[in-house]
Amino acid sequence: MATPVFQTVKLCLTYPDGTQALREVDFAIGAGEVVAVIGKSGAGKSTLLRCLNGLLTPTKGEVLFRGRPVHSTKAHARMVRRDVGMIFQNFGLVPRVSVLTNVLIGRAGQLPTWRGLFFWFTPEERQLGLRALQRVEILDQWQKRPADLSGGQQQRVAIARALCQEPAVLLADEPVSSLDPATARVVLDYAVRICREEGIAMVANLHSVALAREYSDRVVAFKDGRVAFEGPPTQLTDEVLKEVYGEHFADF
Ligand SMILES: Nc1ncnc2c1ncn2[C@@H]1O[C@H](COP(=O)(O)OP(=O)(O)OP(=O)(O)O)[C@@H](O)[C@H]1O
Ligand SMILES: [Mg+2]
Repeated sequence: MATPVFQTVKLCLTYPDGTQALREVDFAIGAGEVVAVIGKSGAGKSTLLRCLNGLLTPTKGEVLFRGRPVHSTKAHARMVRRDVGMIFQNFGLVPRVSVLTNVLIGRAGQLPTWRGLFFWFTPEERQLGLRALQRVEILDQWQKRPADLSGGQQQRVAIARALCQEPAVLLADEPVSSLDPATARVVLDYAVRICREEGIAMVANLHSVALAREYSDRVVAFKDGRVAFEGPPTQLTDEVLKEVYGEHFADF
C-alpha cells in the first residue's frame, strides 16, 4: 500500500485528569479514501481527530502524516496544518465577516500572516473562493453574514472553505449532527462528492450508522478507546453493532 495520508501506531491518549480516551489505536487512511468513524458517545472519536490534526500530543505511540510524526519538525507541523481541512458540528465560521471572506480564510495558511490577519485577498483568490461557493451551489449568498444562512447552508460554506484550502485530507467531527436528516444528506452529498472528485481523503465522525454505511468506503468503530471493528460497510452486521453500541443499537 502507498504511504497512508495518516497512520497511528499504538496511539494512546490519556487526558490530564487520567481519562484514557485512546488505547493502542492503529488507524490508517489512504489517499482519497472516505472513512466513517462511529461509536458511542465517549468512545474516543473526537479525541482521535484532535490527535490527527496535532491539537493533542500522544501520551504513547505515534501519529504519522505522510509517514512522518506530526510533530517531528516545525516545517512538518506547518505542512499538516496546511494539508488538513476541518469541518465541525457547529460550522466554525467567523460571524462578523461575509460568507466569501469565510471561504477565503481557508487560504490563510498559505498567505503571509498580515494578509491572513487583515483578510486581504487578491482578485485571483476571490475568484477561487467564488468557484468554491459555486461547487456547493451557494454562490448567490456570498455577501451575506453566516448568521443569515440556514445551518445546512453554513456547513456548505465550511465545505467551500475547506475546498479553498486544497487539503489532502478533510477531518469532519459530527459534521451533520445539528442538521435535520434530509439536510444532513444534502451536506454529506456535497462533502463526499467533492472529496472524491478532488482525491481528498475524508475522516468523518458520525452518530448515524445509516449515514456511515451510505457514504463511506470503510467504517471504523470505536469502543472504550479501542478499535472494535474495521471494514467495509457491508461487514457492519447487527452482531458488530450490538458489540459496539450495546443492546440498544436497534434504536439508531
Ligand atoms: N478535555 C478532556 N479532558 C478530560 N477528559 C476528556 C476530555 N475530552 C474528552 N474526554 C473524555 O475522553 C473520552 C473520549 O471522549 P471523546 O470526546 O473523544 O468521545 P467521542 O467519541 O467524540 O464522544 P461524542 O460522540 O459524545 O462526541 C470520554 O470519556 C471523555 O469524557
Ligand atoms: Mg465527539
